[in-house]
Amino acid sequence: MTEASEKKSGPQVGETVVHAVPGDTPVDLEAAFRDSQVQEVLDKLDRELVGLKPVKTRIREIASLLLVDRLRRQLGLTTETPTLHMSFTGNPGTGKTTVALRMAEILHRLGYVRQGHLVAVTRDDLVGQYIGHTAPKTKEVLKRAMGGVLFIDEAYYLYRPENERDYGQEAIEILLQIMENNRDDLVVILAGYKDKMDRFFLSNPGMRSRIAHHLDFPDYSGEELMAIASLMLAQIQYRFSPEAEKAFGDYIRRRMVMPHFANARSIRNALDRARLRQANRLFAHARDRLTKNDLMNLEPEDIVASRVFSDGVPDEQEPGAGAK
Ligand SMILES: Nc1ncnc2c1ncn2[C@@H]1O[C@H](COP(=O)(O)OP(=O)(O)OP(=O)(O)O)[C@@H](O)[C@H]1O
Ligand SMILES: [Mg+2]
Repeated sequence: MTEASEKKSGPQVGETVVHAVPGDTPVDLEAAFRDSQVQEVLDKLDRELVGLKPVKTRIREIASLLLVDRLRRQLGLTTETPTLHMSFTGNPGTGKTTVALRMAEILHRLGYVRQGHLVAVTRDDLVGQYIGHTAPKTKEVLKRAMGGVLFIDEAYYLYRPENERDYGQEAIEILLQIMENNRDDLVVILAGYKDKMDRFFLSNPGMRSRIAHHLDFPDYSGEELMAIASLMLAQIQYRFSPEAEKAFGDYIRRRMVMPHFANARSIRNALDRARLRQANRLFAHARDRLTKNDLMNLEPEDIVASRVFSDGVPDEQEPGAGAK
């Protein structure tokens, strides 16, 4: 190990280093957990994100590891900074970016990173067009991300084997070095489709070996998508009328099997369009006698006016879906 295996630098919240503590000294894991206020973030994660059970479990495991690590350090036991670089794989709209944001917050609360911000980038932010441009670009991004999480979306595009003089390789090499040497102050999350990521790791074993956690984000089921829709509406104080809820269930079943379906993202887009139709409906028919309920309720006609019902196609090419 390099210097990364040394003790973390800088003061840790609530840390008191006690040397030569007897082995039967009691330590309060519960109190450490409370102090970290991580439960809050974990609860929020449970409340605000539907499904994703394996992902949530892994996040809890990582939180436990970091807490135990902190207690060990308080008692003067050797602690080797755990590697926390991760890969998040899954189809569009399965929650990768959202979970990465929460992860940054958790890592910050547990004192693993100083700031807990997330810097989200793609190949174009790291790789230059001309010789000599890539290193400064990559280093600038790393500087911004230091103390937080660097989220590289569609990370596999950094590697273009078909192009012999591709500058992506240069960015990868700089990343590898920083991921090893600065792993106590920067967590890198590589995100993208699973099959492409697997291929990327096969050609870049150095990268693979630095990733400690591979989290897979499965597609949501119809029921989960419905729950996500209700949650999204509740957050903005809208709701389905009972009939509209049925219509939206039908919408989901049809939309799921069409091209460019992007899981929760498609649901959000569909709800935005339903709100637009609701507004038009209210404006056209009931301007002078509206109630609070009218303003909150989505009705079946706000749903079934979609082209998904009339033409059997998505309403529009949804950004972020397909095309990749
Ligand atoms: N499990 C979930 N529960 C509730 N909302 C969710 C869930 N997963 C995703 N969302 C919502 O769906 C939208 C898309 O999620 P997000 O951007 O995290 O997906 P992504 O996997 O990063 O997609 P992409 O690959 O297209 O970048 C966001 O508005 C997010 O809040
Ligand atoms: Mg994303």
